[in-house]
Amino acid sequence: MNVPPRNRIEVMHGVNLDQLARRPVEHYGGISFAALEREISRFASELDLIVRFFQSNYEGAFVEHLHGLEGMADGIVLNPGAWTHYSLAIRDALELTGLPAIEVHLSDVGQREEWRRVSVIGDLCVGRVAGKGVEGYREALRLIGQAVGSGS
Ligand code: DQA
Repeated sequence: MNVPPRNRIEVMHGVNLDQLARRPVEHYGGISFAALEREISRFASELDLIVRFFQSNYEGAFVEHLHGLEGMADGIVLNPGAWTHYSLAIRDALELTGLPAIEVHLSDVGQREEWRRVSVIGDLCVGRVAGKGVEGYREALRLIGQAVGSGS
């Protein structure tokens, strides 16, 4: 009997996400970045997904990480932080991966400043979760799991 391979999901965090605990509690809940990644790992094991993490405050490093994903991941969950709203370089790099991706935001970007309503990656992604805090990552992983054909 063949056991199907578990799916590899790249979870990518962009600029300022590493400083999560210092950011406004009303938007980000006061959780630390380390605790966020622990929670994501827990969600992933519940969903039988393999996750690998990447975070950078450097746009070029984020772009180059996307370049290197070919053959390394089956799907992407990404929260590019403020880059979401304007980085066409990240958009182009995400597009060239050819991988299904879910855009995720801890805060409710649709209810904040006007400029946060813009996403330059949204139309490349197969789904989007925003405003659900840490739990939003459970949903994002569930959605990417469906997109790459694993689990329910
Ligand atoms: C964010 C929302 C962005 O507007 C912001 O710049 C962030 C975090 C979120 O997770 O809610 O850095 O992506």
